[in-house]
Amino acid sequence: MKAVSTIGDLRDAVAQLRNAGPVALVPTMGALHDGHLTLVRRARELAPSVVVSIFVNPTQFGPNEDLGAYPRQLEEDARLLEAEGVALLWAPSVDEMYPSGFATTISVSGVSEGLCGAARPGHFDGVATVVAKLFNQVQPDIALFGEKDWQQLAVIRRMASDLDLTLPQLGNIVGVPTVREADGLALSSRNRYLSGEERAAAAALPRAMKAAITRIEQGADVPATLAALETELVEAGFTSVDYATLADAARLEPLAALGNAAARLLVAARIGGTRLIDNMPVGEAV
Ligand code: PAF
Repeated sequence: MKAVSTIGDLRDAVAQLRNAGPVALVPTMGALHDGHLTLVRRARELAPSVVVSIFVNPTQFGPNEDLGAYPRQLEEDARLLEAEGVALLWAPSVDEMYPSGFATTISVSGVSEGLCGAARPGHFDGVATVVAKLFNQVQPDIALFGEKDWQQLAVIRRMASDLDLTLPQLGNIVGVPTVREADGLALSSRNRYLSGEERAAAAALPRAMKAAITRIEQGADVPATLAALETELVEAGFTSVDYATLADAARLEPLAALGNAAARLLVAARIGGTRLIDNMPVGEAV
């Protein structure tokens, strides 16, 4: 595996990979876990060459968020990626990504405004801007993102479509299903912030979500079910719930009842100092 940290070296290395056919990009912020490696494995099935970016993007963190504490383990991550057969690691510095004078922000209205967008002002502007840059830097044929960040995926699809970014078709932005621990907790780089007690309590999140989905699918009142879900999470040890929302799966508009369109239950909840998010389909097998 080759590793590069400047845009010039990246372009040269990608040009070489292109001789072998399509190039897949897996954007990450590092601190890799099995969820990321699942994206890499899927990417390898879809393209002969896989580029993984590792960049802890400062512009998607709010002033009181965990940018400083976010785990950084580049050497260990590089070893994991090499073992997965990744062709190229793109690990730019903050100055390479945002040189002095950088002044452009991409803001996607609609899908980025509710849910995590409301709780984390500016977060999706940072995500959209860095992902647009990554697409332009690598010019991949496909790019893969985890469905765990469902709203992020919706924002990226909207942005890529609106800006006619390089990927030939929207189908080439591939969402990969969430990887879970044995007790159902979605894998996340932030799970490592949880104490033993918090980790045990965190399993209530997927469990309570599945139970709420069953009730909604059986015809229970949606607002009452979501309110009960929030209460259940707090009783299980969560500090607070940012949102528990049934939404249209593509536009992310809140739904007061299950209709014909694909729906998703999305939750963000805090346990101690850690904010966990999860989402699951509603109206189809979970
Ligand atoms: O999901 C992530 O890890 C990040 O939000 C992404 C897409 C790499 C952009 O920084």
